Amino acid sequence: MRKKIIIGNWKMYKTMKEAEEFLTEFNEQTTGWSFDCDYGVAASFTNLHVLKAKKASDFIIAAQNCHDQAQGAFTGEVATNMLEELDVSYVIIGHSERREYFNETNESINRKLNWIFSSSKLLPILCCGETLAQYEKQETKKVIEEQIKAALKDLKQEDISKLVIAYEPIWAIGTGKTATDVEAQSVCSEIRNIVANLYSKDIADQVRIQYGGSVKPENIKTFLAQPDIDGALVGSASLKVADFINLLN
Ligand code: PGA
Repeated sequence: MRKKIIIGNWKMYKTMKEAEEFLTEFNEQTTGWSFDCDYGVAASFTNLHVLKAKKASDFIIAAQNCHDQAQGAFTGEVATNMLEELDVSYVIIGHSERREYFNETNESINRKLNWIFSSSKLLPILCCGETLAQYEKQETKKVIEEQIKAALKDLKQEDISKLVIAYEPIWAIGTGKTATDVEAQSVCSEIRNIVANLYSKDIADQVRIQYGGSVKPENIKTFLAQPDIDGALVGSASLKVADFINLLN
């Protein structure tokens, strides 16, 4: 049985003060509670130590990116061991905003995944998803297959089952539009088939697949009720404590 995983993607929102306020309020409101899922947030680098200091033990700290080498003259980049020092356990890789605005490609995403698994205990949340034009031309599955195959190239079989894959149709991110639960299920099931064909059904059955794109407290249930959707990657609805708690509930 795959445990659900719900991660808030804070993107470039929240100062340290705001992150601290969020966690203080979240902790106050959830004291003594336990959630039936893995959960946490992916925050800006500047907020990671605030989360480390304030978080409850089962709250996951995730980063939104990392570099694909140990150290060096890479101005503006962050290394996996720097993240691990801050108790980061997951890192989002290949978010569509990184692909679109920061020139990330299937190849650079693949380098990052190989580096993460070979150098650290971090677990990647690999994002994939099609544009509106590709969706309208019914190219979703082709695009997803290309992205997944390229991203997973040369990864070790034993690492694949630890992976989280987030299916995020780009046209649903931040737009208020969502894929229907049936559409999202169909693509997530296809992602599992792709992994099964590359490795094995047993491995594919262990991979957790999230849906992302305008997930809110009001619609999360229908997505998580689908057999191949094991969680959500949530942007704007993760920024307010009340919404975030409702998502987890
Ligand atoms: P959204 O963002 O929930 O605001 O659509 C999702 C994401 O970009 O991960």
